[in-house]
Amino acid sequence: MVDIVRAQKDELDEVVEVINENIPLAKRITPQKARSKDLKLYVLKMDGKIIGCCGIRHRTQNACELVHGVVEKEYRGKGFGRKMIEFMIEEGFKDYNKLFMTVNANNEPALKLASSMGFVEEGLLKHHFKQESHVYILSKFKHDNTR
Ligand SMILES: CC(C)(COP(=O)(O)OP(=O)(O)OC[C@H]1O[C@@H](n2cnc3c(N)ncnc32)[C@H](O)[C@@H]1OP(=O)(O)O)[C@@H](O)C(=O)NCCC(=O)NCCS
Repeated sequence: MVDIVRAQKDELDEVVEVINENIPLAKRITPQKARSKDLKLYVLKMDGKIIGCCGIRHRTQNACELVHGVVEKEYRGKGFGRKMIEFMIEEGFKDYNKLFMTVNANNEPALKLASSMGFVEEGLLKHHFKQESHVYILSKFKHDNTR
C-alpha cells in the first residue's frame, strides 16, 4: 500500500538522504533546513518503506514553493511522481492561492509532469546553478483568472 504522510521528526535524516541522492547538487538539502519551520516535508511510503519525498515551503502569504519532489529510481515511471504532485497541489491550495516550483530546463520528466498538472512557465532563470543550465519557474494558481 502506498501513502503520502508528513515526515516524522525521527525520519528527517533519512528524508535528507533520499532527497540528496536523487536531486542535483544545487538543490540539495541540509539536516538543519529539513527542520526549518517554513518547510513541511512529506514521505511517500510503500508498506512502511520511504520510496520518495516532497515538500511545501512557505514563501509569502499568497505563495508556497513545491520542493524536493523525488521518487527513488527503482520506483519511477509507475505514477508515484504524479500522485505526489496531486497531493502537494491539494495541500498547497488549502493555505495558498499560488504554487510554484523551479525545474532545471534539462529535466524533461519533471517538466512534462508539471505541465501535465497545469503548471505554466512564469519565468526563466538563466545560467542559474551553473553557467550552462537554465531553470524554469513554473506556477499554478488556485483561481485561473489570477494569471
Ligand atoms: C520527476 C520525478 C519525480 C517523476 O516521478 P515518476 O514517479 O517517475 O513520475 P510518474 O511515473 O508519475 O510520471 C508522471 C509523468 O511524468 C513524465 N515523465 C516521467 N518520467 C519521464 C521520463 N523518463 N521522460 C519523460 N517524461 C517522463 C510523464 O509526463 C509522466 O506522465 P505519463 O506517464 O502519463 O507519460 C522522478 O523522475 C524523479 O524523482 N526525478 C529525480 C528528482 C527530480 O528531478 N525531481 C524534480 C525536481 S524539480
